[in-house]
Amino acid sequence: MKTKFLLDPNITFLNHGSFGAVPREVFAVYQQWQRTLENQPVRLLGRKLPSELRAVKSALGSVLNANPENLLLISNVTFGLNLAARSLNLQSGDEILTTTHEYGACLNTLKYLAHKSGARLVQQPVSMPLKSPEDVIEEIWSGVSPKTRLLFLSHITSPTASRFPVAQLCRRANRAGILSIIDGAHAPGQLEIDLAEINADIYMGNCHKWMLSPRGAGFLYAGSAVQAILEPLVVSWGWNVDTPATPEMGLLENLQWTGTYDPSAFLSIPAAIDFQRKHNWINVHMSAQETLSRFLHRFSESFNIPIAYTPEADPYIQMAVLLLPPIKDPEKFQNQLWCKYAIEIPCIEWQEHQFLRVSYQVYNTEADLDRLFSAIEDLMPSFLTTSSHTKSGSL
Ligand SMILES: Cc1ncc(COP(=O)(O)O)c(C=O)c1O
Repeated sequence: MKTKFLLDPNITFLNHGSFGAVPREVFAVYQQWQRTLENQPVRLLGRKLPSELRAVKSALGSVLNANPENLLLISNVTFGLNLAARSLNLQSGDEILTTTHEYGACLNTLKYLAHKSGARLVQQPVSMPLKSPEDVIEEIWSGVSPKTRLLFLSHITSPTASRFPVAQLCRRANRAGILSIIDGAHAPGQLEIDLAEINADIYMGNCHKWMLSPRGAGFLYAGSAVQAILEPLVVSWGWNVDTPATPEMGLLENLQWTGTYDPSAFLSIPAAIDFQRKHNWINVHMSAQETLSRFLHRFSESFNIPIAYTPEADPYIQMAVLLLPPIKDPEKFQNQLWCKYAIEIPCIEWQEHQFLRVSYQVYNTEADLDRLFSAIEDLMPSFLTTSSHTKSGSL
């Protein structure tokens, strides 16, 4: 499968999670759209775009089990969260509930929102290793107070590569009258997503990570109850004070145009979906999970360090974290893995822990993990701190 991607064959790429990677045939479709655009810019942008985007939303809706009319195409999750969060009319004293596992840029958006509105941001600790889904729900829910207005959660977390039981939490939030926003940046393409079952008020996902589309392609799902409150983050042709949008006009469609842009990444989403269908993606998930599980056990036994997951939590699919013994200068560790061994993998500091976050995509093989293992064996001794041995047993 490696040859089906454009990745440099001389590197060990174990960081699909950050920015994805696009198969050759999907990239060819992307370039074809760019040529179509260049061939007659007005035909695509001025005439055909609305119907082409409707076709993209229909393809996306079928894999996400969502009504295409509840989907807005967005360039990325960061944009989606800004659009959603800044549409909310939070008041001083309101509370936004989230966890300690969220992505930094999204936390920044929530902090900005709290700062502007006077609301309080509550970051609920969720213990690592994750416990059972029921325990995780209780840990998160214990942060709810009568003032909670918004629940913001990752479906798959960035620093700890863990899956949260979002459907159960959205249901509970819904019953309590709390708005739910789910950050699905890592979920589409890594999980079978059923948006009807999750029933979040707002769910945002990236297609340019695990769904293998070109970068700049994501979606925002908004249930019909919340569509009316969404305001354009960028005011453009869709919004008109004299003729406000009505549900018949399609409330989300009115947010779609944000000024001139290149829609080629959006228009390539169906090709990425086809690629995954053609290559039987459920098997890709299962085999990645098994390979990662074997590797986590091998690493744990060899370095005498716990695995960051409990078996009952079953929280990872194609991305997992390896707990490291305390090391000096994790940034340098990551740089040396790249500079000395051509291994691209993020080294993450989270709370008092340090992790390597391994992404295992269809183009990876066990040989990539073997190379990582040998490189860590080589590098580790010069990075260990004096407390490494005493601390390594506690997560
Ligand atoms: C959990 C999570 N949320 C949001 C994002 C932001 O994605 P983007 O930069 O595509 O907006 C990321 C990026 O890695 C992420 O890991």
